[in-house]
Amino acid sequence: MSKAVVVTGAAQGIGAAIAVCLAGDGYRVHGVDIATPGLEARVTERPDLDLVPHACDIGDHAAVAALWEKIDADSDTVVALVNNAGIFGRQPALEMSVDEWDRVIAVNLRGTFLMSQAFARRVVGRGGEGAIVSISSGQAYRPGSTGVAYAASKAGISNLTRALAREWGPSGIRVNTVVPGLTDTAQPRAAKGDADFVAAAAANPIGRLSTPEDIAWMVSFLLSPRASAITGQAFVVNGGRLML
Ligand SMILES: NC(=O)c1ccc[n+]([C@@H]2O[C@H](COP(=O)([O-])OP(=O)(O)OC[C@H]3O[C@@H](n4cnc5c(N)ncnc54)[C@H](O)[C@@H]3O)[C@@H](O)[C@H]2O)c1
Repeated sequence: MSKAVVVTGAAQGIGAAIAVCLAGDGYRVHGVDIATPGLEARVTERPDLDLVPHACDIGDHAAVAALWEKIDADSDTVVALVNNAGIFGRQPALEMSVDEWDRVIAVNLRGTFLMSQAFARRVVGRGGEGAIVSISSGQAYRPGSTGVAYAASKAGISNLTRALAREWGPSGIRVNTVVPGLTDTAQPRAAKGDADFVAAAAANPIGRLSTPEDIAWMVSFLLSPRASAITGQAFVVNGGRLML
């Protein structure tokens, strides 16, 4: 059986592009999302690819445990995890409810940690090697005017990445972050219109926005043997607008 990877938030947008790209690389891809119809559409559209859909809320500890039991029953060699699922939460800080704060942190930060821990336990258990890529945001470095929980959660992912890279490096697990720029998906479309995307593209040194495929290609590279000396790093794929 081919080596397997797990991609969260795989039903649409950047996660769907990552799932399709990694399946094209020859992996069996366990696509995880809170809603499965989008995932099932991906499977129907691309019967040539080895995509397995799973419904799971990654912020829910019990649901994550049940998810990994299903993955274990299917694949004994999961070599990589892509933590892509994320939500924004657009309440201004002065008006943010505790529930909204908790919801964003639960998906973006706790979900990323729960999935990473479940994956790493399996890699360490079999004495193999593994790689994790988590999807952060430019807002980890330059927050917008709303989205305080999002910005905090994405900055948290950056340092979670470095901490896990340090702790798990000796166990053969590499952990990196990819930082997309504004990418035309449902998440920013909830607050931005065509004119915003055109203006943002014009402001980029390359004259266009990053696409979901641009992000997927960086993820593909970071999971490959060519990236075997790379861990604890963040890679910005944004057309040059944010330069760290
Ligand atoms: N699009 C951008 O401009 C942009 C920029 C920077 C970072 N990002 C990040 O890229 C990642 C992908 O975002 P996108 O733009 O494709 O957004 P999207 O909203 O199109 O996709 C996010 C996916 O995550 C899933 N999801 C949400 N909550 C979940 C949960 N609890 N459990 C499992 N799945 C869940 C959604 O159902 C959806 O399929 C996110 O982490 C986002 O923060 C996006």
